[in-house]
Amino acid sequence: MTETKNHSEGILDDGASSTREDIVALLTKAYWMEIETVMSYLSASVNLDGVRAQEIKESLTEDIEEELGHARQFAARIKELYGVVPGSEDFSAEQSFLQPPDEQTDIVHVIRGVIEAETGAIEHYTRVIEETEGVDPVTQDMVIAILRDEQAHRRLFEGFLREYEIEGIA
Ligand SMILES: [Fe+2]
Ligand SMILES: [Fe+2]
Repeated sequence: MTETKNHSEGILDDGASSTREDIVALLTKAYWMEIETVMSYLSASVNLDGVRAQEIKESLTEDIEEELGHARQFAARIKELYGVVPGSEDFSAEQSFLQPPDEQTDIVHVIRGVIEAETGAIEHYTRVIEETEGVDPVTQDMVIAILRDEQAHRRLFEGFLREYEIEGIA
């Protein structure tokens, strides 16, 4: 009986190209979600008015850097998997819920929008983690760390919302 040599390169195997393409597609969606979140949080962090808005604005300003960092990681991983990071013409907006409110003192609108954006990220990244299970542990590892950031973001804004709910504003 002859032993077959198995020099597996995992996700970088020649035979894994279609799996790689599937993962690159998932990463590309994640990349655009992060870019759109940067846009939405940037506008909200500037637009909001009022004494109570200050905390939210500061928090969003910090998140912008984190979300941009996520976008960078997704871009780098797309490249490592032989994909191409898309250009701006491929972008299509999806965060209808994070458009500026009619009144710039409407903090609750922004808090709810942030929770929705983070929930969307959590759902997509959970899917990426499932799809890379046993297939691409490097991508999976990266996305697990990013997922934790998104869970922390959502938890923070859930706390903000709770405060408004208790006071009967939300
Ligand atoms: Fe993010
Ligand atoms: Fe986030």
